[in-house]
Amino acid sequence: MRKKIVAANWKMNLNLEEGKTLVDGILGNLPMLTKQKQVVIAPSFVHLSQTVVQLDEYEHIYLGAQNCATEASGAFTGEVAASILASVGVQYIIIGHSERREYFKESNEALVKKINQALANNLQVIFCCGEPLVIRDANEQNTYVGKQIEAALFHLSNEQMKNVVIAYEPIWAIGTGRTASTEQAQEMHAHIRRVIVNKFGEAVGANISILYGGSCNDKNAIELFACEDVDGGLIGGAALKVDAFLAIINAMMFA
Ligand code: PGA
Repeated sequence: MRKKIVAANWKMNLNLEEGKTLVDGILGNLPMLTKQKQVVIAPSFVHLSQTVVQLDEYEHIYLGAQNCATEASGAFTGEVAASILASVGVQYIIIGHSERREYFKESNEALVKKINQALANNLQVIFCCGEPLVIRDANEQNTYVGKQIEAALFHLSNEQMKNVVIAYEPIWAIGTGRTASTEQAQEMHAHIRRVIVNKFGEAVGANISILYGGSCNDKNAIELFACEDVDGGLIGGAALKVDAFLAIINAMMFA
């Protein structure tokens, strides 16, 4: 059975104190997670050493980072290497988020390097893909997302793919309040799984977790997570509020 995951992407929000309060609030009412039903919290780099201490005694809730460097170490001012993140206790890294691709011009080549760095340091990758509105309007989303996956993941071995989670995040749904319909989400998730099966075989495809992201919240999570190929969510805005995030975690628990 593949894992279900709810992952919080805090983006560039919350100061240290606010982050601590949010995590305390979540831990205070956390349902009984399991190996098959996990939570990931990805705060900014600055929060990591604080959050790791807070999560220490809790099982199946993991620390994530929102980015890592393309290189292993050296003179790259302002960058943070995957090995440094691993040394703090990070277990997941979000790679290829559309905001990184768009605002920071991260190319497929850069994403490949980051993914390789993360995997070389025994970190789990949450690889993001998703189409802009013009592509969706032209009904070319399947080809577009297929190419994103091919460019970033097809060099990996079946063994390495065990440490990869895919997050489908249609760009037109991120932070816009406009969610993909359950039909749109299911259709794309099934397509992504087919792409993975075609390249890596049935077992890898059946076991890879595919998360939905893009205005997923406490109102629509139950419906989205009920889709056969939706294995949880990557949550931005709604992960910044204790009650909303707990409701999304609970939606996963009962999915
Ligand atoms: P959102 O962000 O939930 O605020 O739409 C999701 C994401 O970008 O990961």
